[in-house]
Amino acid sequence: MTTIAIRQATAGDSDQVAHVVRESWLASNANLLPPDTVQRLQHSDTMSRFAADNWRNIWVAEATKGDAQEVVGVVGMNPDGVIWMLYVLPGFQGCGVGSALYDLAICSLRQAGKRKAMLEVLAANENAVAFYRSRGWVQEGRRTEHIPGFRFTAVRMGLALT
Ligand SMILES: CC(C)(COP(=O)(O)OP(=O)(O)OC[C@H]1O[C@@H](n2cnc3c(N)ncnc32)[C@H](O)[C@@H]1OP(=O)(O)O)[C@@H](O)C(=O)NCCC(=O)NCCS
Repeated sequence: MTTIAIRQATAGDSDQVAHVVRESWLASNANLLPPDTVQRLQHSDTMSRFAADNWRNIWVAEATKGDAQEVVGVVGMNPDGVIWMLYVLPGFQGCGVGSALYDLAICSLRQAGKRKAMLEVLAANENAVAFYRSRGWVQEGRRTEHIPGFRFTAVRMGLALT
């Protein structure tokens, strides 16, 4: 039997956090990217380094099966009220992990006295946009950007926490 628990990340989790972000992001968005960009992202260590620098603002969902433990979901929020990532490994989606991490992020921002939460999500990621809309988030703007090999539109969303 697999059990899942949420805990604050540690500095040592950075590779596992990056693995979850990469696998989850690519499963949702790889079809938007040219193959060489997908390959580059699969081998990039940018997210590991970012997670290593920001572990204090990251929470993880960890699955335990027997003696084996694996990080299967991650959420990151900063003191300004921005939820800057929420990712669940594809094989663990649909089991409530994302909702549990999301609830923790909102609770933590409320406890910190934040009156508003903010995030950005790719416009093409309709599942994620629906996830947030069903939790009361409203669209506040859009922006389109180019990075090498990728042109994307992001939706900016907000949620009143009062
Ligand atoms: C969005 C995401 C975090 C949700 O996590 P999750 O663990 O799958 O979510 P849960 O099991 O808690 O279910 C949350 C909702 O998604 C729905 N859902 C879950 N898996 C689904 C699927 N495969 N297809 C359609 N809906 C699904 C659930 O029915 C539930 O609906 P509700 O909002 O009406 O309650 C996860 O799907 C994910 O990591 N997606 C890829 C990355 C991403 O888009 N991140 C968000 C942008 S940064």
